[in-house]
Amino acid sequence: MENTINNELLSIPIVDVIDRYSYVENFFDFVGLKEFDKKQTMKELVASFSDENLDDLGIGREQIIDNFIAFMEKMSESIEEESNSVNSVTIIGGYNKFNEKEDISITLKKGEIISIVGPTGSGKSRLLEDIECLAQRDTPTKRQILVNDKVPEEDKRFSIENKLIAQLSQNMNFIMDVTTSEFITRHAESRRIKNIDEIVEAIIKCANDLAGEKFSPDVPVTQLSGGQSRALMIADTALLSKSPIVLIDEIENAGVDRKKALELLVKREKIVLMSTHDPLLALMGNKRIVIKNGGISKVIETSEVEKDNLEILSKFDYKVLKLRNLLRTGKEIDFNIKDYLNI
Ligand SMILES: Nc1ncnc2c1ncn2[C@@H]1O[C@H](COP(=O)(O)OP(=O)(O)OP(=O)(O)O)[C@@H](O)[C@H]1O
Ligand SMILES: [Mg+2]
Repeated sequence: MENTINNELLSIPIVDVIDRYSYVENFFDFVGLKEFDKKQTMKELVASFSDENLDDLGIGREQIIDNFIAFMEKMSESIEEESNSVNSVTIIGGYNKFNEKEDISITLKKGEIISIVGPTGSGKSRLLEDIECLAQRDTPTKRQILVNDKVPEEDKRFSIENKLIAQLSQNMNFIMDVTTSEFITRHAESRRIKNIDEIVEAIIKCANDLAGEKFSPDVPVTQLSGGQSRALMIADTALLSKSPIVLIDEIENAGVDRKKALELLVKREKIVLMSTHDPLLALMGNKRIVIKNGGISKVIETSEVEKDNLEILSKFDYKVLKLRNLLRTGKEIDFNIKDYLNI
């Protein structure tokens, strides 16, 4: 909060301050002030205290003002964070490709991973795009997206500063010719991160763990391969993005370790939505949305049996990944594959 604002707060009647920022009443509770004339300004109030009053409260005259300003600053900070905090996203149905009503309303909660499944061309990416732009019945599907049960404010839809959503894209065309480390540094700067060098190093290391062939921080971003740039985007989103909603359109075609990538992305309390054709990723969700003909046809909770099956599938997948690495490094798969896969 600017100093001028603080000064104003000290010079207008306390009733008006309370009117504007109702939480200010907590401050008076904290310092133990119960009955006083709220038509006074904060300055007048403090001036009206006798030394005896101050002794009772156990606080100095100046200190009350300092604490008051500190309290207001702290509160306005947490309010800013709160306004960016997302506890739920609700998708209110629109129409499918045949113009049939999508009779559904689904609420997704913080900490949930939701997979989106359905045949090619069915509308998975479309659903992600609807969430991306916080659709208000103004996209081809006519869906509406609510955040925390409310229609999001315009600035949440259109300003970059307040963006609620991080979307992974493989499209790096928008990036000028800078090195990988410069690129991440700029990103980190724009997000007002303090320990920039550390975070840049961590992101590049993380991207290298995900990608196959390692790359150095001085490589221009435009020269990274598809898989490498995807790995960089995943690492960047996982470590740098503060957005409470993460959208992932098909991690599996990126050639990166998709399970590791997903684990990285869902580490924090976010809402993660990912479209996928991959059974392993689909079952890693808490829920899955089934899309048919452009509409949501079902929402399925991942059952206990499915979770057990996921474990077996993961072991199997690990073995297949090992085969991939053997092939990538020029080895031959000439051993008994039935024994190897235990099938
Ligand atoms: N409800 C809808 N109304 C009108 N058009 C729709 C609707 N849903 C999807 N579409 C359109 O159908 C096309 C295919 O959808 P989309 O790209 O989302 O498919 P997809 O499931 O992501 O396919 P893939 O698995 O191949 O990536 C897009 O042009 C999309 O805009
Ligand atoms: Mg798609």
